Amino acid sequence: MIRLAVFGSPIRQSSSPAIHGMFAQQCGLDVDYQAIEATAESFAGLLQALAAQGGRGCNVTVPLKKQAWQLAQRASLSAQRAQAANTLVFENDNDWYADNTDGRGLVQDLSGNLGQPIRASRICIIGAGGAAAGILGDLLAQEPKCITIANRTLERARELQQTFSTSLDAPAAETSEPGPTPVPVVSAISLDDLGIATPFDLVINATSLGHKGQHPGLPPTLFLPGSLCYDLNYGAASEPLKVHCRAAGIRYQDGFGMLVEQAALSFQLWTNRKPDTTPVLQALRSDWL
Ligand code: ATR
Repeated sequence: MIRLAVFGSPIRQSSSPAIHGMFAQQCGLDVDYQAIEATAESFAGLLQALAAQGGRGCNVTVPLKKQAWQLAQRASLSAQRAQAANTLVFENDNDWYADNTDGRGLVQDLSGNLGQPIRASRICIIGAGGAAAGILGDLLAQEPKCITIANRTLERARELQQTFSTSLDAPAAETSEPGPTPVPVVSAISLDDLGIATPFDLVINATSLGHKGQHPGLPPTLFLPGSLCYDLNYGAASEPLKVHCRAAGIRYQDGFGMLVEQAALSFQLWTNRKPDTTPVLQALRSDWL
């Protein structure tokens, strides 16, 4: 039996046990995946207990992602850039590997499932908290033209801009084009200045407003015909922005796809098996509707 878990608080509503249960069934694997409520104080002890019971690894969600990254001995580039982990793999005693599959999950949903181009596109990320930090590095690795971080607190957006402008190596040169590919420009603006911003191809909501029944009030001038508004929220938290976009005629997508894709990447890290995400996403959506 493969023993896995997700840690966080609150964790009762987590869809992860259901998602990983479907992956396990698809792959014919015997998996025990528990949702475990944990605080900053109890987290390290609970992790040790899972590892001692032969656990293969775990998912980690708010508010423990940074701590998970700090507790691991090794970390992927995605986790290092985000300074946070959503996945731990227990390799051996005291050899815990941290990864952050959120950004790659988002990229997979955008490019793979939705056919939304990222390369050479103009992207705006609304929000500058942990959710934004978790996706920035992997989006930049896809070589967009630029990423603008828009946040209520401008200082926080500037901090993120600095972190990701300096930590990113110049992308490799294209073989077909002479000279290096231009490094994407990362900029920071205040949420109040969104109304005067040049339109974007892709606008990503990475604020926590949806959990309070609110949305960031995106002006229609932010979008070109065909631009996409992608919400990292899903379920009830995605309703406010979904309703706003529908009323304004803006193309909108919630974050269910990213949720399933990031889970699939974690599952692959633990089991070496790549599940089919399409039926799992369909089941999750029909459960929600
Ligand atoms: P998470 O880890 O989910 O990203 P977070 O670090 O608390 O959570 O960040 C929440 C994001 O939502 C931040 O960008 C926050 O803006 P501030 O940095 O100015 O706090 C944004 N946010 C939360 N409430 C908001 C509101 N009422 N208006 C605009 N932005 C808001």
